[in-house]
Amino acid sequence: MDVCFCLIKTAGDYKMESYPDHKTYRRLYRRFYEGRPAEKLIKIAGLVAGKNVLDLCGGDGRLSLVVVKLGAKSVCLIDRERAMVSNKARLHSKIKVFINTVESQLEEFMERGRYFDCIFCQQAVNYWLNDNTAKLVADVLAEGGVFVFNTFNRKPPEKPMIKKYEIDGKKFLEVSWLVGDLVHHVQKREGLPCHITSFRWLSPDYLADILDTYFSVTVKKDGNTSLYRCIRK
Ligand SMILES: C[S@@+](CC[C@H](N)C(=O)[O-])C[C@H]1O[C@@H](n2cnc3c(N)ncnc32)[C@H](O)[C@@H]1O
Repeated sequence: MDVCFCLIKTAGDYKMESYPDHKTYRRLYRRFYEGRPAEKLIKIAGLVAGKNVLDLCGGDGRLSLVVVKLGAKSVCLIDRERAMVSNKARLHSKIKVFINTVESQLEEFMERGRYFDCIFCQQAVNYWLNDNTAKLVADVLAEGGVFVFNTFNRKPPEKPMIKKYEIDGKKFLEVSWLVGDLVHHVQKREGLPCHITSFRWLSPDYLADILDTYFSVTVKKDGNTSLYRCIRK
């Protein structure tokens, strides 16, 4: 039996829609985690020292922990999965963790009149960014504040795209395919259960359309990823 079929069958048996705990996440998504350091995104924002920072879909807190080291005044981290947030981030005196969806936590910040100077979203904007949430981000961004995120810039094919590779002798398999504007992704590492997730393909035209009303946008291409720097108008 073909190894891919075998793994997809396994994925069906152990379907994991929510993200795993942060330790498993780092092992399973090693290629993405190590290949895309938080520092790249932070550099796009400029100076973070003395700033109030918001880390959307912050996961284990890797970006939050770096901005704190760089002198940020305060950091709020939002993630809907409790197990994705590390104790290191949760227990840090300068990091306040909100276990909530981006959508409802942004609404709450807006209602409370809470503003941020820098808002980041690393590897997760495809889960939540739309016309409505772009406005919410603008509403909680201080005047002249910056919203920085990355997203993949190549539309995945409708026919499943299979990537097999090895890191330190461990076999990995990824399968991605597009149905309408929804990307489905299966991530498998030898010895770990599959993670299956779905998120939206956000085309450059769509992003320009929803962001231009509120922000002056500059985009920097970095291989398959585009880094967006959005300054509040
Ligand atoms: C690919 S991981 C990225 C984590 C982290 N930003 C990083 O780069 O390591 C995506 C994260 O987004 C979170 N997430 C997805 N959709 C969300 C939503 N609507 N609201 C809050 N968190 C969400 C998941 O729980 C997960 O921790």
